[in-house]
Amino acid sequence: MTSHIFGGPDTPKKLRCLQKYLQAFAIALRDQQFACVYIDAFAGSGSRTEVRPGIPLFGSELAEPEEVTTPGSARIAIEINPPMHSIVLIEQDSARFAQLQALKAEYPDRQIIPRQGDANELVQRLCRGMKWRGSEKIGRGVRGVIFLDPYGMEVSWATVKAIADTEALDCWYFFPLSGLYRNAPRDPTKLSSGKQASLDRVLGATDWRERWYDHKNTSRDMFEDADQAIRRADVDAIERYVKERLQTAFKGAVLDPVRLHHKNGPPLASLFFAVSNPSPPAVALATRMASHILSSGRSSQTRSR
Ligand SMILES: C[S@@+](CC[C@H](N)C(=O)[O-])C[C@H]1O[C@@H](n2cnc3c(N)ncnc32)[C@H](O)[C@@H]1O
Repeated sequence: MTSHIFGGPDTPKKLRCLQKYLQAFAIALRDQQFACVYIDAFAGSGSRTEVRPGIPLFGSELAEPEEVTTPGSARIAIEINPPMHSIVLIEQDSARFAQLQALKAEYPDRQIIPRQGDANELVQRLCRGMKWRGSEKIGRGVRGVIFLDPYGMEVSWATVKAIADTEALDCWYFFPLSGLYRNAPRDPTKLSSGKQASLDRVLGATDWRERWYDHKNTSRDMFEDADQAIRRADVDAIERYVKERLQTAFKGAVLDPVRLHHKNGPPLASLFFAVSNPSPPAVALATRMASHILSSGRSSQTRSR
């Protein structure tokens, strides 16, 4: 089987946040009347392989790098106890999808639903088709957690909006800061129409053009008069903008994210947590559980930097 090599030094932190939240969520909802679902929209293969440099045991002699495999988000979710009622695993890549099917076969007593295809299409369909509040046929309502863990700018705003509109899902979103950076160069002459369209699709808005770019002559279109303009928004401002965008969709809450970094230091992504359910007790519970997890993620960041 092929190994799924992805992520960087902060990937274990991301997966720890997810694991801790799913554990707390499963315990908190154990005695409530809801069915609990976990949706892994970019599920990968079920495990993560990391290549670690070998330890030079004989002076400077180069040691072989070693491959270390640990559970990925799908296996982490399956192993939560008490178990979630249903686990939906979405993956586009055929080889990784086959690994998810093998993972399902390891747990014949569990309701694990692997789906191969585009996460945007499948998540939107699921969010709009599910009777979250319950129905005569299925009885109880459904509550859940969704994890958006793309490589880059794959998640469309329409997907984020469909999740928020369920008013039933808590969402962990690994938001691609470095993708935004790449698509919003400081020099707007490099901002191609393709890059602009990509940013519009991920952010679901067009006002980032005015919010992020400074231009001296405000009476002219900065994209026509490109040499007058420059991106003034730094990574903090971009992250704040993303939080504002999420707040327009999620009626419950959007917490300050934990920022994760590349191996050599620059920001890679921000791990956001958002609550779609507007009911005050649901918001209070989800916020209490997630803010504790996020703040321990932030303090481990300070210690290791
Ligand atoms: C960062 S990896 C996910 C890792 C996984 N969450 C884990 O912890 O093991 C991103 C995954 O998304 C898949 N992917 C990329 N674009 C996709 C799309 N549009 N729809 C569904 N899956 C996609 C990739 O094949 C890859 O396996």
